[in-house]
Amino acid sequence: MYKKKYPVIIFEGIEASGKSTNINNFSKFLKKNKYQFIKIREPGGTKFSEKLRKIMLSKSNKLDKKTDLLLILASRSENVSKIIYKNYQKKIILIDRFSDSTIAYQHYGMGLNLNIIKNLNSYIIGKFKPDLTFLCTVNNKNMNNRLKIRSNNNRYDNFKINFYNKVQKGFLKLSKNKKKYVLLDSNNSTPAENLNRIIKEFKKIAK
Ligand code: TMP
Repeated sequence: MYKKKYPVIIFEGIEASGKSTNINNFSKFLKKNKYQFIKIREPGGTKFSEKLRKIMLSKSNKLDKKTDLLLILASRSENVSKIIYKNYQKKIILIDRFSDSTIAYQHYGMGLNLNIIKNLNSYIIGKFKPDLTFLCTVNNKNMNNRLKIRSNNNRYDNFKINFYNKVQKGFLKLSKNKKKYVLLDSNNSTPAENLNRIIKEFKKIAK
């Protein structure tokens, strides 16, 4: 397998899947071991993209799903041109959600056209490809329990369980039979075990 000094690593997964814990723990590991890295989230990233995130996730904005799609893509476009390409091969890039989230949420969850999403993603992202994606997963029982006790902070925390189910199935479909995807289970593995797995997979692709 090829190794890169500065790989691009994505963390994906639905709400309550342990994504934030995993990416935060891995960031701490990189920092402690003095790796050069940046971390961004989507939607969000650049100053402008963070403004778009606020608009998109605000509970007071009842936006159409196509508007959501366009806001997410606008945020991504800014990140790709202003942050990602600038740091590509100069620092490790960690991204909390990327193009797969758009396919999983906007297509598998909300039913928007898959080809339109794929084409727009490619148009924005260009030739750049992530090196590794960690897909964080949760079973239905834990998803139910965790979502019940989560504070409904934003618009996307308020969907029914069935929606998150569809989104997670979409993520799993995207990861199927692909070498660049690693599944992290939040039901039977502890955060420490998941961190060990992340480090092990990271070391396989990082010089
Ligand atoms: P976060 O809570 O993980 O930061 O993500 C914010 C929300 O944005 C999350 O509920 C999923 C949603 N989202 C999409 O629907 N499509 C996308 O492409 C991205 C990046 C996020």
